Amino acid sequence: MKILIFDTDATVREVFGRELGEHELLFIEEPVNRDALLLHSDADVVSVFVSSRLTREDIQLLPNLRAVVARSSGIDHIDSEFLKEKGIALNTVPRYGAHTVAEYTFALLLALTRRVPESLTHMNAGVFEKAPELEGDDLYGKTIGVIGTGAIGANVVTRAKAFGMKVLMYDLFPNTALESDEARYTALDEIYAESDIITLHAPGTPETHHLLNTAAFAKMKQGVVIVNTARGELIETEALLQALRSGKVSRAALDVLEGERELREGGENSTVHALIKEFVQGSKRVILMPHIAFFTREAYHEILRISVANVHEFVKKSIK
Ligand code: NAI
Repeated sequence: MKILIFDTDATVREVFGRELGEHELLFIEEPVNRDALLLHSDADVVSVFVSSRLTREDIQLLPNLRAVVARSSGIDHIDSEFLKEKGIALNTVPRYGAHTVAEYTFALLLALTRRVPESLTHMNAGVFEKAPELEGDDLYGKTIGVIGTGAIGANVVTRAKAFGMKVLMYDLFPNTALESDEARYTALDEIYAESDIITLHAPGTPETHHLLNTAAFAKMKQGVVIVNTARGELIETEALLQALRSGKVSRAALDVLEGERELREGGENSTVHALIKEFVQGSKRVILMPHIAFFTREAYHEILRISVANVHEFVKKSIK
């Protein structure tokens, strides 16, 4: 079987090479691109990471394609409807340590509330005294709004409770097991009105596109803190920029950015550039990260282990 593997690094090459050596493996370091698809148009299986986009046009370039192995839980970067229409299997990694992203959510949140980037800037400049601007905020006693309480959101909720926070939750399908004296489900409007911190854990879908827009920010508390480790498209970046400028949003940490793939490929985005220039550079209230909430040794190996198992499973089924 010919397997075309995009977005590869040394770990992917090592694990796939070791576990799938009986197949013809083609490792491509870059995200999905037309040249590679044309060159290997006879591929049976394609494996992609979230840095790739797999469009209808891409899929049409691969007439033999029978399975897509996504090395991610989210599939907003793949035209899954078209795959279904063509009868091509789509395998994902639905669970791989939701605690990993939940831990990172708190890493970002604590970095914001305890002024970690500002303190580093301070120390790097050789200033060893505490400065008034390094005074932080406790999480204890604060209200956190958790939007999306699936695998990751649920892990955020349990950790928030451990910090002594009050938790407001929103999900299309509430998980009553998470409810307690400190945590309850409510409507989005109450989350906006009552939360000191809002963290996003819903998938990128047409329904969640620009969930946090100008109207949503207008309903929030003055000085709210925003954390996004879900998908960049959940936030209207221009509206966030305005909310940061007005002080409505006091701080924000984004592991994911609207249009991040285009940016990675060198594309221009004046809103993101304004965000970086006005707030990120010099550690002024915003932290941006290169989509690495999932990226621990344990979670990355788990993603690759499950992806390899998905290929084996597909091969087994297609031999039957
Ligand atoms: P999950 O599928 O377990 O949970 C998602 C939850 O969102 C579900 O409970 C679902 O009912 C809810 N939901 C769906 N549409 C909604 C809507 N319109 N409003 C409110 N809730 C809605 O997914 P999981 O594993 O918790 O991951 C959540 C998201 O985190 C993924 O879709 C992915 O985009 C992102 N992610 C980011 C990573 C990173 O490295 N930054 C790594 C892994 C996931």
